[in-house]
Amino acid sequence: MASREEILRALEDVIDPELGRSVIELDMVRDVFVEGARVGVTIALTVPGCPLRASFQEQVDRALLPLDGVDEVELAFDVMSPEEKAALTARLRGGVSERTPGISVDAGTRVLAVASGKGGVGKSSLAANLAAAFSELGQRTGVLDADVYGYSIPHMLGIHQRPVSVDDGERAMIVPPVRGDLKVMSIGFFLDENTPVMWRGPMLHRALEQFLSDVHWGELDTLVVDMPPGTGDVAISLGQLLPRAEAIVVTTPHRASQQVAVRAAQMARKTNMRLLGVVENMAYLTREDGSREELFGAGGGEALAAEVEAPLLGRIPFDPRLGALADEGEPIVLAEPEAEVSRAIASLAETVAATRREEGVGIVKPLPLVRS
Ligand SMILES: Nc1ncnc2c1ncn2[C@@H]1O[C@H](COP(=O)(O)OP(=O)(O)O)[C@@H](O)[C@H]1O
Ligand SMILES: [Mg+2]
Repeated sequence: MASREEILRALEDVIDPELGRSVIELDMVRDVFVEGARVGVTIALTVPGCPLRASFQEQVDRALLPLDGVDEVELAFDVMSPEEKAALTARLRGGVSERTPGISVDAGTRVLAVASGKGGVGKSSLAANLAAAFSELGQRTGVLDADVYGYSIPHMLGIHQRPVSVDDGERAMIVPPVRGDLKVMSIGFFLDENTPVMWRGPMLHRALEQFLSDVHWGELDTLVVDMPPGTGDVAISLGQLLPRAEAIVVTTPHRASQQVAVRAAQMARKTNMRLLGVVENMAYLTREDGSREELFGAGGGEALAAEVEAPLLGRIPFDPRLGALADEGEPIVLAEPEAEVSRAIASLAETVAATRREEGVGIVKPLPLVRS
């Protein structure tokens, strides 16, 4: 017969997929009973009807069934009381070492704002796929859909569950839903048809600030932010609430689109973001015979990079499968990693990951030659 202690030790490996910590550490485990070869465990969740039950079931089975003397595992769920939720909130908040007036992320988290002069250039598609690519690189990654004019990130990543909100009586704490290891949050989760009014006037900045500071990201290496397009109030307010952010400006190859994108780059600098560089999206289409066709003009990315004095970080080809897969909630970098567009986005992620934030220093890349 397994002992209670053995069972609790084994349950340390059961991780709440959204909170990213062990159910033991988070004090979520209730009555453990052992009756011969039958073991029963109750886990207290933050919300009833949590969509992650299957994951818990699978993890608990995996942790307990290999134990000596355990043949059968019964998992039950309970819901936390308000006091327990408050305790959980306090425990989770303890992990954030620096609290800033804006976004609530750890000081070590890199905030990467994906901006554009106008909509329709593929900003959200790149943000979603870049985030997936960072996650594939082994980085703990979050993606924030902050484009208040059109939330698309959750859809593109196939997120159907809503975030869990844990209220400790004073402040809400919003826990982002996950897709695999990727944490996903959208301002759209918190809007209903009556709220657009909030995005105007003096309420705007406060509402954004509140939202950003209430989201519990946990420990992240990189947070990718899908910014609202253009240089309006919302983009500026958001920019101010993303301290230490770095910006990537997306443009299409068409020369005329460069003018509009320049303003987005200037806006990023005005809100104290470090402009990391420019990405040209829909740069070309590769035909089956290997020839390339420049469908949407040429030179826009280079011209923009020259104008804003930042590097051209990547040219991403056009591939209709990117949009089709996004509609099914599949980022192409995960669904078809060998596609040319996926490799281009993965290589963009690597380029970005190889740059370091350093005051006054441009892009710092490891030189391949100095490795001995
Ligand atoms: N590299 C690409 N290849 C093919 N289609 C793309 C590419 N990038 C974006 N798209 C498509 O272009 C449209 C606009 O993209 P989206 O990411 O929503 O732009 P934005 O966020 O800038 O408004 C979408 O239909 C998307 O599927
Ligand atoms: Mg978009």
